[in-house]
Amino acid sequence: MSSLFLLFLLHITIATAAQLRPDHYLPTCPNAESIVRNVMKKALIREPRSVASVMRLQFNDCFVNGCDASVLLDDTPTVPGEKQALASINSLRSFEVIDEIKEALEKVCPGRVSCADIVIMAARDAVALTGGPDWKVRLGRLDSLSPWLEESNEIMPSPRSNASYLIDLFKKFNLSVEDLVALSGTHSIGQARCFSIMFRLYNQSGTGRPDPAIEPKYREKLNKLCPTNVDQNVTGDLDATPRVFDNQYFKDLVAGRGFLNSDQTLHTFTQTRSFVKLFSKDQSVFFKAVVNGMLKLGDLQSNQRGEIRRNCRVVNKR
Ligand code: HEM
Repeated sequence: MSSLFLLFLLHITIATAAQLRPDHYLPTCPNAESIVRNVMKKALIREPRSVASVMRLQFNDCFVNGCDASVLLDDTPTVPGEKQALASINSLRSFEVIDEIKEALEKVCPGRVSCADIVIMAARDAVALTGGPDWKVRLGRLDSLSPWLEESNEIMPSPRSNASYLIDLFKKFNLSVEDLVALSGTHSIGQARCFSIMFRLYNQSGTGRPDPAIEPKYREKLNKLCPTNVDQNVTGDLDATPRVFDNQYFKDLVAGRGFLNSDQTLHTFTQTRSFVKLFSKDQSVFFKAVVNGMLKLGDLQSNQRGEIRRNCRVVNKR
């Protein structure tokens, strides 16, 4: 483990339930949750994929110095933001949905609801609105005063990752093997770029061959979607039902039809395979596990000073 990573982990604490509370905004902005949900409903109608894109922000936010909305900061002339990070650039999207939520909240209760909490509420709503479970989230986070670009580059996993790397990575965040598999199941909605799978289609691990774990018919389909000369921003579905939050993702993995290497590897490795199989057979077990995983992911907190931003893209003026 690099020294930067170690240093970074010192800045993260696992929040206790006492610090974050479901009713945090009851006295200051009692309608916060319904305001967030209404904007998410509109976003879903306008562009179905956008809710998946918003949900992904929780992962990229919380793994990098805890859930502090650092992922939302735009570049400034002097400080590049996390949007430039390897795992974000040309990929993270739908920041405008967060802007719309923030504007709606600022109208009703200005300066009260943090952008970090907006990400957590909106991610939960993305799951609930697409057919997945609904749950109470813990709130009361503050927004970071700076982005963490270097840390993001260091930490966020590549789509090439294998299960043993991912198990070790998630363990550092107090997330178990079951949490890893359940949280990967959020790829039940949304899309990814050809860019993220070119190596596994044409040169897996430098072999000059495709990943043998891909089922042949599915590989034909992916080869058509992403030929060697493709514009690598072309996107494909992360599972067979990309607008519905269900356990189809796991059924696809069992059939060798996972889109990303980091998805299919969960079925290839024995330590993760038992959870893949379990979730593929029993959607309600998956739903319970993903709620638990999202709550634990949301409990990763920064111990740095923070604020409630007026605009999620910039820190407040001093
Ligand atoms: C286990 C490690 C993970 C890896 C390696 C990973 C990697 C990726 C990659 C490479 C993409 C597509 C990027 C692109 O091609 O533009 C993606 C999309 C996505 N990820 Fe993950 N991810 C992981 C875990 C998670 C977690 C924990 C969540 C949710 C909390 C999540 C939610 C999503 C969603 C919803 C999308 C689709 C977004 C869209 O359609 O815009 N991922 N992920």
